[in-house]
Amino acid sequence: MIDFNFSRAGLKFDNDLLAPYKEKFGEVISKLTNGDGEFIFSKLPSEQSLKKVSEAFARRVRSSFTSLIVVGIGGSSLGARALLSAVPGDRIVYFMENIDPESISKILNKINPRKTAVNFVSRSGTTLETISQYIILREFYKEKLGKNFYKNFFVTTSAEGSFLGKEALRYGYEIIRIPKELTGRYSVLSPVGMVPAGFAGLKVSQILAGAEKMKSLCLQGDLQKNPSAQFAITCYHHYLRGRRIIVLMPYMDSLFAIGEWFAQLWAESLGKVNQDGKPVGQTPVRGIGTQDQHSLLQLYLDGPDEQIVIFITGEPRRDLKVKKAEGDFEYLNNRRVSEILMAEQQATAEALYSKGKPSIHIHLKKINEVSLGGLFYFFETSTVFMSSLLKVNAFDQPAVEEIKKITRQILSLNTR
Ligand code: PA5
Repeated sequence: MIDFNFSRAGLKFDNDLLAPYKEKFGEVISKLTNGDGEFIFSKLPSEQSLKKVSEAFARRVRSSFTSLIVVGIGGSSLGARALLSAVPGDRIVYFMENIDPESISKILNKINPRKTAVNFVSRSGTTLETISQYIILREFYKEKLGKNFYKNFFVTTSAEGSFLGKEALRYGYEIIRIPKELTGRYSVLSPVGMVPAGFAGLKVSQILAGAEKMKSLCLQGDLQKNPSAQFAITCYHHYLRGRRIIVLMPYMDSLFAIGEWFAQLWAESLGKVNQDGKPVGQTPVRGIGTQDQHSLLQLYLDGPDEQIVIFITGEPRRDLKVKKAEGDFEYLNNRRVSEILMAEQQATAEALYSKGKPSIHIHLKKINEVSLGGLFYFFETSTVFMSSLLKVNAFDQPAVEEIKKITRQILSLNTR
């Protein structure tokens, strides 16, 4: 399903290297196995009741509507968007995330409201961006559809007493309930990601099966066989040596959004003041190959030694051939485009390696529900392993809460 290649990571995973991590990671593994509290995300691959909820809602919405708008931000949208960008399905799903009037208008101008359902996703039910867009859409849909507009609206939340929850009761929108312990950025395998996926025609059971398969690898106590533990150890090792930047560099446009999802997970989970009172964290950079070879790679190769690069490649679902290449480019003749892409990735990894710069290569043998489910679970557990090394709580985001508070104050002061 997924190959992990650590051969250019600059570490040898022998007993001497792994022994100091054994006890700490043993504790993390038992928390991930039990899935209590915020670790509930680790139970999602085999959680039958939530799976059924996702499948049932997805089926029902799919039978009445031809497109779906997901309104949510951060952990409430990035996972579903990453998944559907990699495996698009056969129905259109729009994402309203940023509160950008141009983007909102563009979607509203495109859709047929009668045939378009709207899923408002907010664990807290109080997020400013989501609520503002909810009110805009409520008025828009009321105007277009009259009093029956409520049939097009769904609310995914864990907070029925919140503003959004109360609106659902007031107007009669159906509620898709998610566990209150589930942190947004770890929620892609819950109905938050699975309802949009199922609506688009993806097989929810395959996504979860892929995650479950990965879980059996990532919860192994034998760290020599545990890719997630090795990923965290590698990142931590280089972090301690001044590599404070982690570049996620997929070599396929359809995987770019995985980098956006990962960036939130890694930054928001790990970037904070730790138990010893020290500010810690590793800055994620969302990259893309081969484009970055013609821009950022100059810096990564010759500039300060601050990065670890994570390559993600996959077997494309369709391919093309370069035919009749001549002259200086004869070596391209009859080459598949995927071959050229892989050669470029290999060249980049080799160039980094020759300068002593670390990289990890993750290869998806197929880009489908199974591998994506596995990839999500892999990165989630890797983040939790890393949080134990950095000594931070992987599930809170105190500084983000601060911005929400200040925004409220600014807008309240400017009340007209
Ligand atoms: O990971 C997180 O917890 C955050 O990114 C949230 O998902 C984001 O702030 C949106 O919050 P909510 O789902 O409550 O609207």
